[in-house]
Amino acid sequence: MQQRSNLYIFTFALIVCLACSIGLALAATALKPAQVTNSRLDVVKNLLSISGYKDQDIARLSAKEMLDLYKKEFPSQILNENNKPVERAWIEKELAMLGYPESDLKEQFDFEIVETFNKKINLIARRAGQKPEEYRARFATGKAGYRMIFMHRPAEEVDAYIIPIAGNGLWGMMYGYLALQPDLVTIKGVRFYKHVETPGLGAEAEKPWFTNMFIGKKILDESGQLRPVRVAKGKAASDAEVDGISGATLTGNGITEFIKKDLSAFEPYFQILRKLHTEDGV
Ligand SMILES: Cc1cc2nc3c(=O)[nH]c(=O)nc-3n(C[C@H](O)[C@H](O)[C@H](O)COP(=O)(O)O)c2cc1C
Repeated sequence: MQQRSNLYIFTFALIVCLACSIGLALAATALKPAQVTNSRLDVVKNLLSISGYKDQDIARLSAKEMLDLYKKEFPSQILNENNKPVERAWIEKELAMLGYPESDLKEQFDFEIVETFNKKINLIARRAGQKPEEYRARFATGKAGYRMIFMHRPAEEVDAYIIPIAGNGLWGMMYGYLALQPDLVTIKGVRFYKHVETPGLGAEAEKPWFTNMFIGKKILDESGQLRPVRVAKGKAASDAEVDGISGATLTGNGITEFIKKDLSAFEPYFQILRKLHTEDGV
């Protein structure tokens, strides 16, 4: 067999590595737009589903029809850590100042621009050796980051207020949405769309048998104080609880905690909306 020199072997390996990395880089660049569209559609599908659109009807829609429906029926509001509404234009200006290309910003949906902004703030804070909260103090006080609240408004009236919910399950982050009826007290629906919990155990949280138990639960007690729904260990013992998932108490505890955290963060804004509704006689 022909003996190859070490130089030949290293050069060959280098060329193979270079060819692979160029291939991967090209594939990543080429697939980026499809990735962005898919994660955008994921958000929209979840919003449609939690607002009452049937899964089979959603599946029949093309990507364009879905995005058009979102633009038509789902106005949204960006809030800062103090629950003050923030204009998208302001975030765009800040991001442009931080060096983000303006042409990219124009194309982003509101929920994407908020994510970009929060990521950018965290990144800069880390690079500057500051805690994100300290850096964020330049924008506002508090620690919650900028947040989205979506409305489902199929006609004149708002039909649901939808907030993103996220936090730790047992194995990692869980992401979902919680929708409230227009009274901002009664839960209209809950969805979990991304998590790493164990199939058959914590992953049962995404199943309708579990999420349907949240429907109709009140987030305020009789005296009007926030009383977020809890996931029980075993059977629900009161109106404020839903049944736990057997063998997955820790996932349930996580859900209890982050629903409480997210509802508490939005509660001051909900209070303003409830007051407005009462004044309007709604
Ligand atoms: C392989 C494996 C996967 C598990 N996955 C989960 C999970 O996704 N969520 C969870 O709460 N507990 C999970 N558990 C069980 C927890 O370790 C813990 O025992 C359980 O949450 C206690 O719930 P229980 O009191 O309802 O039995 C898993 C256990 C094993 C061995």
